[in-house]
Amino acid sequence: MTAAADACAVSEAAADSDVAISARGLTRRFGDLIAVDALDLQIAPRSIYGFLGPNGCGKTTTVRMLTGLLTPSAGEVRVLGHRLPAEAEILKRNIGYMTQKFSLYEDLTVLENLRFVASVYGLEPHDAKSRIAELLGTYALEPLKHQRAGSMSGGQRQRLSLAAAILHRPALLFLDEPTSAVDPEHRRDFWERLFDLVDAGATILVSTHYMDEAERCHRLAILENGHKRADGSPAELMAAMGAHVLEVEGPYLRQTKTALTALPEILSAAQLGSRLRVLVRDRITEPERWLKELPVARDLTQIASVRPSLEDVFVTCTGQNRPQDQQREANEVAA
Ligand SMILES: Nc1ncnc2c1ncn2[C@@H]1O[C@H](COP(=O)(O)OP(=O)(O)O)[C@@H](O)[C@H]1O
Ligand SMILES: [Mg+2]
Repeated sequence: MTAAADACAVSEAAADSDVAISARGLTRRFGDLIAVDALDLQIAPRSIYGFLGPNGCGKTTTVRMLTGLLTPSAGEVRVLGHRLPAEAEILKRNIGYMTQKFSLYEDLTVLENLRFVASVYGLEPHDAKSRIAELLGTYALEPLKHQRAGSMSGGQRQRLSLAAAILHRPALLFLDEPTSAVDPEHRRDFWERLFDLVDAGATILVSTHYMDEAERCHRLAILENGHKRADGSPAELMAAMGAHVLEVEGPYLRQTKTALTALPEILSAAQLGSRLRVLVRDRITEPERWLKELPVARDLTQIASVRPSLEDVFVTCTGQNRPQDQQREANEVAA
């Protein structure tokens, strides 16, 4: 772990009696590759906990281990009081899992898909009927109930997937990159629905490579190459970041960026429109004054301290690009 990552690590406060998920040393190898490396987790009930990280950092592998679907190579896991993998079968009845890819039947209608899921979970016919009617209403699927899943939009499919994942009223819900195929407006609506579920008593674990989504979580872990780089609430992580954030303006921002990035005191400089967002290591106590006295500052028209964002936390913890950029690059390579 780097010094910056260390500074990001916030102590795990939850007591053992008050946890939905606890993992110690959770590890998964695939041949020589360590996909998840000695992960420690404490997830409080009735909250939304996020895994934030780029493509390949180990989010899905971790989720699969926590659902009992994949056996860890090492480590101890307890989910809703059940030890895994020994008690995976009992656990399955109490969890819902929305996988990264749409996993319902495209050739079945909304209603047929939900009836099928109800039968898999062994709901009594009467209970299944009323529960499905309730979910069709809650998730705005009633007008679509005779439509085939394969012909629905991304947002509609996502609501159907969520309805199917909670049909059996699980106490714990796993959502693996649930909004990747959804436009921003529907993403917002989806998150409102997640908070409704938490209000009704559910615990939710959600993986994402979107900063804005991670920022909505009560707590989150930042993952990189199977390692947890930081863990805490968005506010805690920003407070413990170990860097100052400045925004500067000037006429030659590309050159300024190159000059700043070469300095050891600068963690990163990234352009946002007509400004550069600059992360200065916190061993510099007066960053604005320090920057103003640099030769490179001659050209600058404005230097201002600004509040950190989760994206700044990500950069300081991992020293990398934003996860959504990495995801996009990975998709471009795959295409
Ligand atoms: N079944 C598997 N066999 C071999 N390697 C795998 C398998 N599943 C995942 N991996 C590898 O483990 C790493 C983490 O993958 P994954 O958990 O899917 O990441 P994420 O969900 O964050 O994109 C990647 O390098 C991936 O290629
Ligand atoms: Mg994944």
